[in-house]
Amino acid sequence: MFLGIDIGTSEVKVLLLADDGSAVATAGTPLSISRPHPGHSEQDPAEWWQATQSALAQLRAAEPQAYAATRAIGLSGQMHGAVLLDAKDRVLRPAILWNDTRSAVEAEELMAELPTLPQIAGSLIVPGFTSPKLRWVQKHEPVIFAQVAKVLLPKDYLRLQLTGDYVSDLSDASGTAWLDVARRAWSDELLALSDLTRAQMPDVVEGSMVSGKLGGAAAAALGLPPGIAVAGGAGDNASSAIGMGAVEAGQGFISLGTSGVVFVVTPRYLPDTARATHAFCHAVPGRWHQMSVMLSAASCLTWATRLVGAASEGALEAQARSLSLAARETGPIFLPYLGGERTPHNDANVRASFHGLSHDTDAAALAYGVIEGVSFGLMDGLAALRAAGSTVGRLSLVGGGARSAFWAQLLASLLQVEIVTHADSAAGGALGAARLAWLSTGAEIGEVCSEPAASREYRPDATEHAVLAPRYQRYTAIYPALRGIG
Ligand code: XUL
Repeated sequence: MFLGIDIGTSEVKVLLLADDGSAVATAGTPLSISRPHPGHSEQDPAEWWQATQSALAQLRAAEPQAYAATRAIGLSGQMHGAVLLDAKDRVLRPAILWNDTRSAVEAEELMAELPTLPQIAGSLIVPGFTSPKLRWVQKHEPVIFAQVAKVLLPKDYLRLQLTGDYVSDLSDASGTAWLDVARRAWSDELLALSDLTRAQMPDVVEGSMVSGKLGGAAAAALGLPPGIAVAGGAGDNASSAIGMGAVEAGQGFISLGTSGVVFVVTPRYLPDTARATHAFCHAVPGRWHQMSVMLSAASCLTWATRLVGAASEGALEAQARSLSLAARETGPIFLPYLGGERTPHNDANVRASFHGLSHDTDAAALAYGVIEGVSFGLMDGLAALRAAGSTVGRLSLVGGGARSAFWAQLLASLLQVEIVTHADSAAGGALGAARLAWLSTGAEIGEVCSEPAASREYRPDATEHAVLAPRYQRYTAIYPALRGIG
C-alpha cells in the first residue's frame, strides 16, 4: 500500500493505493482560509497537521489492515505558500497562501531589479509566488524577517512533522522564484535578491525520490510503521499530473478546484516570459511542464451558491443546466476575478463582474454565467499555453468541478478538445502523491503512471460551440475596458 496526502486549500485529502494501482480508500478533512485584509489569504500550518491526522484516522478506521500495510508516503500540496520558521522550528506567522495578492508591488520590484529573473524562474513573477511574499515580510514585518531560519512550502511543513527533515521537491520549489528551473537547483543569485541564503532553504529532491523516513513519534501518532519512506512528492498540480498519467509531452489536464489550472507536459524547459504562464519542473526527473493558473475557479460557484442562497453547488449547477441554449445566449457574462487574476492578466487589483444583467436575470442565469465565465478563464489559459508552445488535443478534468458532467461538456465544446473524467478525478493530487510514493520504492514510471480508466469522455459539440464562441469574444473584450475604470 502507498499513502498519498494532499494539503489542498479547502481540504486535506488522503488516499490509499494498492500495488495493483487501484485506490482502496480516500478520506478528507476541511480547512478554512482566513482573509484578514482585502487581498490577504492565510492559513495556520498547525491546522494542516491536525487535519492530516484527522483524515488519516478516518482512513485507518475504514481500512485498518490496508492502512497498516503502508510501505511509503507521498506528499502533494497547494503551491507557493510561505511557512516561516525560526531556529527552533516555531511558526513565526500564519502561512501566506498562493492566492494572496498583497505582494504585487514587491513582485514588480524584483523583476525591475533583475530583468533576467523570469527567464531563470520560468515565469513572470506574480504576487502568489514565495519570493515576493518574503520581500513583503521584510518590508512590513522586519522583526519576523530577521528571525526566519527556514522557509518551507505547505506540504514540506507537513514533511517536517513526519520525518524531521527540511526537504522540498523540484516541482513545488519551482513556484518559489528562487529555483533555477532549467538547472533544477536553487539559484544563489535569486536567493540573494531576497536577502536569503541556501541555509534558509530546504534541500531539494526529485518528486519520485526518497526524502526521508517516517519518525517514531509521527508513526505512533498516525498508527503507521516507523521508518517507511516519505517521497519528495510534488506541488498539487504536478502531483495531479502524475495521478492522471500526464508524463509525456502534450499530455495534460484541467483542474477545477479552488484554483483553475490548465497543465501541459512540455518536451523541454519552455518559459514564456511575456505571459503569466509558468514553466516549471515536473515531478519526475528530466521533465518540465507549462501551466496557466486562475485564482478563483470552482470557488466562484461556491461564492454564487452563498450569494443566491442555493442549497449546494450541485443544486445551483442543476439550475444552470436547466437553461435552454437560447436563454444561455442572452444571459449575463461573468468575469471570474473574485480575488484578482493571474493568467492571463497578472492583475492583483481587478475584481469580478457580471456584464449584461437585465430584469429577467434569475439565479439560474447567474449560475450559468459563473460556470461559463470560469470556463472562459480556462480558455484564456489554454490560449496562453498554446502561444507559449504547448500542443494538446485531450485533457483530463480533475478537482471538485470534475463532478459536473454539464461543466465537462461545456469545456469540451468551448476549448475544442476532448475532455476525460476518471473515477478518482476529485482526488487527483492525493493519487499522484501515492504514485510518487510508489515510484520512490523503485517502481518504473511506465508501470505506475498510466492514465486511470476514463469514467466518461466528452467531445466538442458544434451546436454548443456556436453559442459559446461569440460570448467568449465578448468576454475577452470586457477586461481591457474595465482595466481603465479600476
Ligand atoms: C499554482 C497555484 C495553485 C495552487 C493551488 O501555481 O498557485 O494551483 O497550487 O493549490
